[in-house]
Amino acid sequence: MATVISFSIFKGGTGKTTSAVNTAAALVEKGKRVLLVDLDQQASSTRYVGIEPDSVNPTLYHVFLKQTPASVVRQHTAFGFDILPSSSLMAAIEESLDPGDEILLRDILKPLHDEYDYILVDTPPGKAGLAFNGIVAADWLFIPASAERMAIDGVSDLISHVQGIIWHKYRSELLKQQIRILFTMYKAGTNHSPGIVQATRRIYGGNVLDMLIPETIEFPRSFDLKQPILSLSPHHPGAEAYRQVAAWIIDHAKTTT
Ligand SMILES: Nc1ncnc2c1ncn2[C@@H]1O[C@H](COP(=O)(O)OP(=O)(O)OP(=O)(O)O)[C@@H](O)[C@H]1O
Ligand SMILES: [Mg+2]
Repeated sequence: MATVISFSIFKGGTGKTTSAVNTAAALVEKGKRVLLVDLDQQASSTRYVGIEPDSVNPTLYHVFLKQTPASVVRQHTAFGFDILPSSSLMAAIEESLDPGDEILLRDILKPLHDEYDYILVDTPPGKAGLAFNGIVAADWLFIPASAERMAIDGVSDLISHVQGIIWHKYRSELLKQQIRILFTMYKAGTNHSPGIVQATRRIYGGNVLDMLIPETIEFPRSFDLKQPILSLSPHHPGAEAYRQVAAWIIDHAKTTT
């Protein structure tokens, strides 16, 4: 059974895509079989690995419509992991989701579990159906929070929605779901980022991961050059930080369902 880890927070631009792609690359470096799922109509993960979303057919859109199995849609990337690519058509899926459809992705991924050690899901921002699909599919929810003002608001919004609504609705599926907070865009050498991490630890304790992803221009550069930082700049502290995330996952994030 693969362990499914979703990178989720309703707030935009906090490092969901960057974390999903670079964690995938870091897990591959450690010999793991990894599938990355791009649920976002912006298709940022798909672009990040060098696939032009609107030139791909079929995509995850066709899987949600039950026209094509996920095993046919997935593509190999140059970085050792596979991807279920997204496209702007995912907007139509978002529009068509009904209450109860939050479970669709979980079912879509079931036939792929034997082929991977980890399935990482990059979820879209916003409180809507596809983001909920990413949450319901997850054994582990990783909340990437940027170490800046308002970070705690974004984290508590996600956690209260998950614990207050989603866990009730999908009680039997999500009995063992675990949540961890991953700080991204951490500015060392300022008082600001450490203060935010400390304040968040006071509230969420051990659910805040120890490793901190540094803020560095190398991440936008790696997106522009369509290569995970681990492949572009393997010795960069940003690459090392995601290696630590992968090592943590291998030690802790076992499938518990
Ligand atoms: N540690 C970091 N240091 C500096 N810039 C970063 C870091 N992580 C991500 N970024 C940059 O911040 C921007 C937003 O990151 P990313 O796309 O990963 O966020 P997201 O949560 O997926 O956004 P969205 O909500 O739009 O999907 C991107 O330009 C990315 O390159
Ligand atoms: Mg994103």
